Amino acid sequence: MPTPRITELPDAVRALIEKNSGPITDMGTVHGGYNSSIAACVRTGRRSPHTLFVKGLPLDHPRVWTQAREAKINPHVRDLTPALHWYEEADGWSLLGFEYVEGDHADYTPGASDLSQISATMGQLARLRAPGVELKTMTDRYRTYVESPAELKWFEGDSLLHTDWNPHNVIITKAGAVLVDWAWASTGAAWIDSALWLLWLLWLIADGHTAAQAESVAATHPAWKSAPSAGLDTLARVQERLWDSIAEQSPDNWSQTMKAAARAWNTHRQSQD
Ligand SMILES: Nc1ncnc2c1ncn2[C@@H]1O[C@H](COP(=O)(O)OP(=O)(O)O)[C@@H](O)[C@H]1O
Ligand SMILES: [Mg+2]
Repeated sequence: MPTPRITELPDAVRALIEKNSGPITDMGTVHGGYNSSIAACVRTGRRSPHTLFVKGLPLDHPRVWTQAREAKINPHVRDLTPALHWYEEADGWSLLGFEYVEGDHADYTPGASDLSQISATMGQLARLRAPGVELKTMTDRYRTYVESPAELKWFEGDSLLHTDWNPHNVIITKAGAVLVDWAWASTGAAWIDSALWLLWLLWLIADGHTAAQAESVAATHPAWKSAPSAGLDTLARVQERLWDSIAEQSPDNWSQTMKAAARAWNTHRQSQD
């Protein structure tokens, strides 16, 4: 379920930001993303102005644990993501204070110049080993969506994966594609990220990629060639089940479109047999 975004910072949140970064001089809500109660661009400091991206959830939010995971992963992915300046859990709030990056959300339409930049950043990520930080494994995440436990073997691996390739989590800056929102960082087979990206390339459906086009874009990712065909087939089935269940719980437009994208990919995989 999407978490409604708060546009006025509560006093407790302002106080925590000011404790860490000095007096707030300006702020604005950041659009994009679905999970955080607070996503704000905050300017602080009278003498040396500084711009932060502050992301927050109330401490009683069911997904508040994802904040700690982002805090832990940040030092290990510093070449791909903005620096985390501070992390606070107090007074009812969990807050992350990141360096603010200027840029636009990624454009996933066919032929967009962003695609090769994103693939380059994904390639950098694919070369990193999973850090010694406790992360969910893809086998755990997909356990309830496979037909039999034996299928889970396709997803095993020790690669660090971002897994949430929503275009709002990719910011195109002057220096290239930057990945934000590591809330769903996981470990698993190296090729999984390329296949999960593919699904978002299909997400646009009407004016987006066909399944075959999306696969050829995903194939620019260095790990795609290591993807076993049966592993891709299994992932396509898992994704269709997963998005069916998400779309049932939150029948908004984007989850319906994602469900259609997952179905289109699974149908494409089946037609290859
Ligand atoms: N460091 C940053 N600098 C500038 N904008 C950011 C930064 N991190 C995230 N954003 C923007 O804020 C939005 C929400 O942040 P995100 O971490 O994706 O949270 P959510 O959990 O709400 O999806 C992103 O879609 C992106 O547009
Ligand atoms: Mg996000």
